[in-house]
Amino acid sequence: LLCVLRRRTRREGEPPLIRGFIPYIGKALQFGKDAHRFLEAHRKKYGDIFTVHIAGRYMTFIMDPLMYPSIIKQGRQLDFHEFSNKVAPFTFGYPPIVNGKFPGLNEQIKRSFNLLQGDGLNSLTESMMGNLMLLFHQDHLEEGGDWKRGSMFDFCFSIMFEATFLTLYGRPASGCRHSGMGPLREDFLEFDSMFPLLIAQIPIWLLGRTKAIRKKLINYFLLPRMSHWSNTSQFIKIRAELFEQYDTLCDVDKGAHHFAILWASVGNTGPATFWAMYYLVSHPDALEAVQQEIHGVLRLSDVEFSSDRDVKLSREQLDKLHYLESAINESLRLSSASTNIRVAQEDFSLRLDAERSVSVRKGDIIALYPQSMHLDPEIYEDPQTFRFDRYMQDGKEKTDFYKGGQKLKYYLMPFGSGSTMCPGRFFALNEIKQFLCLLLLYFDLELEEGQSRATLDPSRAGLGVLLPATDVRFRYRPRTV
Ligand code: HEM
Repeated sequence: LLCVLRRRTRREGEPPLIRGFIPYIGKALQFGKDAHRFLEAHRKKYGDIFTVHIAGRYMTFIMDPLMYPSIIKQGRQLDFHEFSNKVAPFTFGYPPIVNGKFPGLNEQIKRSFNLLQGDGLNSLTESMMGNLMLLFHQDHLEEGGDWKRGSMFDFCFSIMFEATFLTLYGRPASGCRHSGMGPLREDFLEFDSMFPLLIAQIPIWLLGRTKAIRKKLINYFLLPRMSHWSNTSQFIKIRAELFEQYDTLCDVDKGAHHFAILWASVGNTGPATFWAMYYLVSHPDALEAVQQEIHGVLRLSDVEFSSDRDVKLSREQLDKLHYLESAINESLRLSSASTNIRVAQEDFSLRLDAERSVSVRKGDIIALYPQSMHLDPEIYEDPQTFRFDRYMQDGKEKTDFYKGGQKLKYYLMPFGSGSTMCPGRFFALNEIKQFLCLLLLYFDLELEEGQSRATLDPSRAGLGVLLPATDVRFRYRPRTV
């Protein structure tokens, strides 16, 4: 209790300290309510570096993106994984991966991430294409040519959830779709709504039904069921084989690891797909430019699109869709809000640039909050506006963005940075591209009238791509071309 009540005071060389009045909680509530607004207000008052007391931890925010490289490359004194190694087991319900109990497991898990990239990405992309096509056919294309109404987040999330599931975990023993996907998705979303509280280390027994829901989600991945699945990705197969090597992991622990990957693979991709679709559908010029680009890339391979045939886009073809990629990146800029976290391993002086350094204490968190950079008008003119070609220049990818006249090394960070950067980022971009290609090729799309602009729900701020505050109504009709 004494530790909680004892108040830290600022020492010489340390950044300004913002404590709040409530012991332990500090500024957690204000930060959680709208992190971007909170940080901007404090930046104006205290400058680019300040420390905030949040839920028992001291977080030093580095707000100037010109200083990001010196944080991202710091290795020895700033640990990348200490935080996630503690938080992920608590959230997903598997035991902490300590070397004594699970020798080598952490390293092998990291190695498994390579299967999401390189050659592994080819088969994931091919499989995802087939699964998306299957779902579009069975659920949306075979029902006659009339306009249908839908809720956009629901539409995107249900397709991406199931197609990603099939691609990573494989198909059931009989049939090509798993039963119970709808309830599984509902449970997933309910768990996801509690995710910020779990990440803040609120005990799960205080969170109502969350523990029972997590148990149901984990149970979906128990071995007797998974062992009958076919077409499972190499990534999941290798991980399942790896877990079998550890007697210290029980079946439920293994299920919890698989569930954690389900969360990582759709928790952000679902909302990211929604925002990309929303911005394209609400910007007809962007929609048309991207549609033309897709037809152009198909024509380069001598494919003339026809709505009565299946279309297949290879990884190489997806790589050529530069305007589509720019549009997705632009929607990620507008909707992503993750925090990049490093933990100080000792008291030391953290160098920020040629002139400046600050003192940090062992155990303090050093945090980058890229949303502030993504919405900085000095870097991005008119930052709240969606410009589908913002990341294009002379037909090529634009990579030069400036702050204070200096070129930025990091200007778009939805996937984190440095050694903790998301290993699924290439797969994620390909999946979103594939979804949008099929959507724009096979359907006419319109927003329903009389709706206000979609806004971000800030409750997940700091943890990834934000959800829309309310769903968006739209109309869609299969094309006949
Ligand atoms: C980690 C973003 C899709 C797998 C992360 C991190 C971020 C992120 C910000 C944490 C990085 C850090 O701590 O600095 C996203 C976004 C996605 C996406 C915005 C979609 C738009 C995916 C997909 C997968 C995936 C499709 C596929 C399995 C992972 C894994 C980690 C991770 C396994 C943990 C890595 C580790 O422990 O080192 N992601 N991600 N992500 N992501 Fe993604």
